[in-house]
Amino acid sequence: MKFWLSVSIALVALFATGCQEDTPTTPSPEEEQATKRLDPHSFARKKEAVIKDLDLNITVDFEQQVLTGVARYAIDVEPGVDQIHLDTRDLTIHHVTLNAGEDTTTFTLGEPVAHLGQELIIDITPTTTHINIAYTTSPDAAALQWLSPQQTAGKRHPFLFTQSQAILARTWIPIQDSPGIRFTYHATVQVPKGLMAVMSASNPTEVQPDGTYTFDMAQPIPSYLMALAVGDIRFGAVGPRTGVYAEPELLEASVYEFGDMENMLNQAEELYGAYAWDRYDVIVLPPSFPFGGMENPRLTFLTPTVIAGDRSLTSLIAHELAHSWSGNLVTNENWNDFWLNEGFTVYFEGRIMEALYGASYANMLRQLGYQDLQEEIETLADKGQLADTKLKLDLAGRDPDEGLTDIAYEKGALFLRHIESVVGRERFDAFLNNYFSTHAFQTMTTESFVTYLNSTLLADNEAWAEEVAAQEWIYGTGLPEGHPVVETDRFKRVEEQLAAWQQGQSANQLNTAGWTTHEWLHFLRNIPKDLTIEQMTALDEAFGFTESGNSEIVAVWLVLSINNDYEPAYDRLETFLVEVGRRKFLSPIYRALAATEKGMERARSIYRKARPNYHAVSYQSIDAILNWES
Ligand code: BES
Ligand code: ZN
Repeated sequence: MKFWLSVSIALVALFATGCQEDTPTTPSPEEEQATKRLDPHSFARKKEAVIKDLDLNITVDFEQQVLTGVARYAIDVEPGVDQIHLDTRDLTIHHVTLNAGEDTTTFTLGEPVAHLGQELIIDITPTTTHINIAYTTSPDAAALQWLSPQQTAGKRHPFLFTQSQAILARTWIPIQDSPGIRFTYHATVQVPKGLMAVMSASNPTEVQPDGTYTFDMAQPIPSYLMALAVGDIRFGAVGPRTGVYAEPELLEASVYEFGDMENMLNQAEELYGAYAWDRYDVIVLPPSFPFGGMENPRLTFLTPTVIAGDRSLTSLIAHELAHSWSGNLVTNENWNDFWLNEGFTVYFEGRIMEALYGASYANMLRQLGYQDLQEEIETLADKGQLADTKLKLDLAGRDPDEGLTDIAYEKGALFLRHIESVVGRERFDAFLNNYFSTHAFQTMTTESFVTYLNSTLLADNEAWAEEVAAQEWIYGTGLPEGHPVVETDRFKRVEEQLAAWQQGQSANQLNTAGWTTHEWLHFLRNIPKDLTIEQMTALDEAFGFTESGNSEIVAVWLVLSINNDYEPAYDRLETFLVEVGRRKFLSPIYRALAATEKGMERARSIYRKARPNYHAVSYQSIDAILNWES
């Protein structure tokens, strides 16, 4: 190993001095490394030495805004291998020891590489079973958001949460940060007295007086599911296996909002087999959480913007719960296979919603998803990124965040619905059940999925295989012809009311009785883009959009307000942008503002106040939209 490395270095030196008469066929060190790594977003060398179990012992320091402690790993090493490669980004490594801690060892930290951070190479011996890495995080660690009391609901205590997916776990733990590597974990976390700590593991339900918390995750998970939250957190039960963590101020409303969680869990098991993770709880985070939800095992992390008061946005819980099978149990091998996580999950989410609330309800969600997909394909085509409309992505050399588009979610789910329509629901469900149980706690590549599909569901039926057209769906751009289409009478009725309104019927005479959030979203998405101030005012007076407590509705209304320069919505615009950090809402709003000079000015003045409230995931995206230099 070391010998080969020095040979490669010598070769590079040879190149550098210009003496390359005979171009050697030996791979460059970069190529050599890339083939060993397998995952383009990790330095880990899965075939040489891997982590099997993590014992994490850290202290949460709110004053310095750092985590400090030791990550101790049990490792599996192939014979003859004398180094283990890990991922780090913005970490200070103090020292590394082997086994029980008695043997110190040498390590090197590579030069920073864009998106990936720094490779940590630790020297080991044939008898090494454990490595112990003492480290401290940086206050700028991208996974971590440190909130002041002012940024919480209670305003009295600070709050910390992590977001590890896709490749941010390495900013708070030195780790092999690839979804293709699984490990079990245990943790001891020291937090200030009075606060509670929770993780993607077995969790406390009471505050520990000494501020010391211990955790266990007995099932092997990939690093992107490592998660921690610390704050003034309380627990409330929903059902025997389900519950909610939230700040005390939000607990009651949260327990009500997610009252169907236990039913969802039971329903999901009925569809695709036993739940593998024991309990299913959620934590409602402060509004700066950059996503709707994050499927951290046993404990989904959630934005508070789903608390609408009427349980109308809980398909998000169905989504994160579904990840307990698609994603957490059967995991994409690397981020190019992301659709295996998200496409399956959107499909599964739809089935949970259908089972609980009926097909007409689920079809509204599917139709909205389909609209998102069409828009995404157009946007990517306009940007010249048609290759990103394939299900199988090529994200090497890029931030995997760029693969986070509606393609993986909605084209992925549509592909599965297409297969379902070819073979019939009963057969497809049996197939999915087997898929999850056969590959539980393993990783999956797109290619091995296709092989599995062809050798099980589609075996012996060429007509089906042809109709399914897996190659075209996966490796083709855009949408194949003959893809499934959803029809919903409920949206037809919305379209009738829209037509009536356009023909002059006044807003308050429209028949909107019994409309759910989804009908309203369809209404607002399909209203003409150019409206007069009188029309905006009349709509607002009739339906109270500006003051709506439903974040999804407000977010669409604000874009419409910006496009039509509707002044009365601007106060709400500002408070919304300053408070909410959910990127899905922020991006379209800032983009709408950035489209005009006046809007850009407003955007930049709001952003100056809002940016300090955002998690790195969000401010990095918005910085790009506003050409912001910090
Ligand atoms: N796992 C994702 C969030 C994610 C993906 C974070 C990639 C970082 C990188 C989560 O399950 C998700 O899809 N969240 C969606 C919810 C939704 C589609 C219902 C979100 O946050 O909007
Ligand atoms: Zn998801």
